[in-house]
Amino acid sequence: MSTPVMQEMSGARLDVAWVRQQFPSLKEQVTGAPAAFLDGPAGTQVPRQVMDAITNYLTHANANTYGMFATSRRTNEMILAARAAMADFFNCAAEEVVFGQNMTTITLALARAIGRELKAGDEIVVTTLDHDANVGPWRALEEKGVVVRQADIREADCTLDLADLRSKINGKTKLVAVGYASNIVGTINPVAEITKMAHAAGALMFVDAVHYAPHGLIDVKAIDCDFLVCSLYKFFGPHMGTLYGKKEHLERFKPYKVRPATNVSPECWETGTQVHELIAGIGAAVDYIAELGRKCDVTARTRREALAAAYATTVPYERALLMKLVDGLEALPGVKIYGITERGRFDERCSTISFRIGEHNPTQIASFLGERGIFTWDGNFYALNLSERLGVEEKGGVLRVGIVHYNTADEIDRLISALKEFRAN
Ligand SMILES: Cc1ncc(COP(=O)(O)O)c(C=O)c1O
Repeated sequence: MSTPVMQEMSGARLDVAWVRQQFPSLKEQVTGAPAAFLDGPAGTQVPRQVMDAITNYLTHANANTYGMFATSRRTNEMILAARAAMADFFNCAAEEVVFGQNMTTITLALARAIGRELKAGDEIVVTTLDHDANVGPWRALEEKGVVVRQADIREADCTLDLADLRSKINGKTKLVAVGYASNIVGTINPVAEITKMAHAAGALMFVDAVHYAPHGLIDVKAIDCDFLVCSLYKFFGPHMGTLYGKKEHLERFKPYKVRPATNVSPECWETGTQVHELIAGIGAAVDYIAELGRKCDVTARTRREALAAAYATTVPYERALLMKLVDGLEALPGVKIYGITERGRFDERCSTISFRIGEHNPTQIASFLGERGIFTWDGNFYALNLSERLGVEEKGGVLRVGIVHYNTADEIDRLISALKEFRAN
């Protein structure tokens, strides 16, 4: 087991054995081989704390909200607790947290609400680097004459072309929509700097943090963005999404809603009955990360400090695995990696790697790996603009490997050996 080596390499004290014990699904096997979950960017595995919270809610608190009886009151309390947990996660106030089905649904609803106040000729800036869920909802406003401009990338390293982005922001810009990290190439964008650009032009800043959330501590106060959204199932939680919105904006913009539903924010943004059992899982997911943080740093006092301690440990651990993966891939003939590969710039990227092997179809490679218990993804992952811009869309996209803190050096070794075997066949 190479875990101690990884600890030494990263200088971190991540107890990977403890981490892996928390995730029951990591014991899955595929035809006798242990499953290697390198599919995290499409959804991570779930610790037992989250499963227990969901079961516990359904057993002891299952009801609708605001009833005059015990289970309904427990449901209200549970939702408040989950909002407080997400507030610690984002570093905001609890009333600035909105729950929803997933990032796409939340963003579509928010874009419609913001769109109510826009007129023909107003402008929105999106980017080529983004998942379509941070493009399509804004482009839908073109129907009412809103002009959507798209900032390009620098193809050589798949980073956002900041000069191009700056040139597209002007006095007519009402909103800038940028991803925190790319779900294909892993590039981390300087979202605080971009927020300054947006605000200088009088525009709102919307951040898609779906891909960043498992890989780094989010601090909406430090970014100063107006909205930030992510999906819990990408960072060890259940299949739900959540939005941070500055209180003033959540109170000013008007969501589409039915008449009897409350006008009070944040609940007015949560359409219909929520999936309460999964909201219980959200609180538990944040608490799992905090529990990990307290194991890494026993001096952490608040939940926020514990979350910071967790990421301070998982980020270097993931980076050490990423180094190992990139070393292995670069030693394989015919491999083209998309995005930053210079070791000295790894703080500009997270541990998600996409590549192609010659003209091999990524689906073929993913299926070869899948048969050996190694789970990876192939395709464009809905980051369609980027897949087209990189010229891979017609060729089946790329093969994507995602590393999170429960992955191990052994899994990376297995992946590289399997890729060698694939090439030899
Ligand atoms: C960067 C990014 N943004 C948005 C989304 C959409 O998230 P959801 O499917 O939860 O709506 C994804 C999903 O993969 C993503 O990776």
